[in-house]
Amino acid sequence: MSVRPLVIGNWKMNLDFVEALHLTQQLGVLLKNHPVEHTDVVIAPPFVDLRSVGSILDAERLPVALGAQHVNPQENGAHTGEVSVSMLQRLGVEWVIVGHSERRTNYAMSDEVVAATLRAVVRAGLHAVLCVGEALSVREADEHESFVAAQLRSALGGLEERFHPLVSVAYEPLWAIGTGVNATAEQVSQMSGLVRGVLAELLAGAPPVLYGGSVNAENAGTLVRSSDLDGFLVGGASLKAESFCAILHACDDCYAIKR
Ligand code: PGA
Repeated sequence: MSVRPLVIGNWKMNLDFVEALHLTQQLGVLLKNHPVEHTDVVIAPPFVDLRSVGSILDAERLPVALGAQHVNPQENGAHTGEVSVSMLQRLGVEWVIVGHSERRTNYAMSDEVVAATLRAVVRAGLHAVLCVGEALSVREADEHESFVAAQLRSALGGLEERFHPLVSVAYEPLWAIGTGVNATAEQVSQMSGLVRGVLAELLAGAPPVLYGGSVNAENAGTLVRSSDLDGFLVGGASLKAESFCAILHACDDCYAIKR
């Protein structure tokens, strides 16, 4: 772990704004009783929940930043159903997940759109969490390293240096997302090493490298202790305050020991 741990909860298309309020309040109670000391925490609710979740984070002064799951790279205009970076900024969003595999696979988000989205996010001064990861067929063909390296190069190649501090990367193999089958610590270490090597060619500094894919309260400690990781992007387990907090504390404890 080379930088402060970072854990992002991706709520995906779950929780209406009333349910989102409840979860944020529960999270607030747990974090007040048992604060995290070293870990940066972000939650990324659905767009329609951002306002209400953000107001609780502010009112309760919770040490949790607001994230969005996606954004359209255009500034404004005829893009029915889409949301712009400036709209997110007005709601206090500081982080945006870019190129999640569900956007790439189910909503035809191409590498070009991923690169444009990442640029739109960082130009506005927001943090971009770039998601990369291979499908099972790619891993079975033993092409996962070159596939992930190409995703990184395509999204980050030529990015102006002043934006480099705003980039984090989440390695999320598609076969581990929402399946209950997480990548092993060895697989994660191998891929985080590959990601760090490619990032060293592309970016100044050492951007946080996260893992995502069936991370839960039980496996987070082992994964973060035995892999070279800076934190997690968490889906399903971020929908329960207890499991999300357990993951936060696994990272926090690991950082305190390794430091
Ligand atoms: P999961 O999702 O934790 O439910 O596997 C991770 C993600 O898609 O970011």
